[in-house]
Amino acid sequence: MSGFETTGADATVALGRALAPLVRAGDGLVLSGDLGAGKTQLTKGFAAGLEVPEVVTSPTFNILLVHQGRLPLYHFDLYRLEHSDQLEDVDYWGTLEADGVSVVEWGDRFPEAMPLDYLAAHMTITADETREIVLSSQGTRGAELARTWLGACTGLADVVVRNSDSHGGDTA
Ligand SMILES: Nc1ncnc2c1ncn2[C@@H]1O[C@H](COP(=O)(O)OP(=O)(O)OP(=O)(O)O)[C@@H](O)[C@H]1O
Ligand SMILES: [Mg+2]
Repeated sequence: MSGFETTGADATVALGRALAPLVRAGDGLVLSGDLGAGKTQLTKGFAAGLEVPEVVTSPTFNILLVHQGRLPLYHFDLYRLEHSDQLEDVDYWGTLEADGVSVVEWGDRFPEAMPLDYLAAHMTITADETREIVLSSQGTRGAELARTWLGACTGLADVVVRNSDSHGGDTA
């Protein structure tokens, strides 16, 4: 399995920042994992890397917050969504294919919310300050993003990169 382990919120912010130069319009990032795992911290760094001027916080009460950076950033949080029908109200599927990049916190809550092609990061709290972040993807673009993101994070402070492809793949 490929992914990261971070120690401290700043390290997770740095991971998000490292992803930003790699994305283009139409890309989708699905973030899942426990409450407080760091999905919003990661998004905060991603937004900063996209040159979004404001500090990004959780859109929990809004389902969708739009930020303008190098590309539009569509930041979804499906935690409080009660029914997937509500996705239509925010033109969820149209937005995923629009002119920007989408980040979907709790995107795994509804199977129909998963994009056709995406990069996914599942975050787990392993200790107060440490987080395990496991990557998966769907489609060729999602796989490319996973590969390039792993490569871009080598040497970041307080980040351990686990790249199972870099040594010919593991048996897991
Ligand atoms: N290694 C770490 N990575 C990310 N956050 C960390 C880390 N260590 C500690 N933290 C703390 O954990 C919290 C993560 O909060 P964050 O809002 O990003 O979580 P979330 O996954 O978005 O939660 P929610 O499901 O409620 O939206 C922050 O208070 C942050 O300071
Ligand atoms: Mg959050």
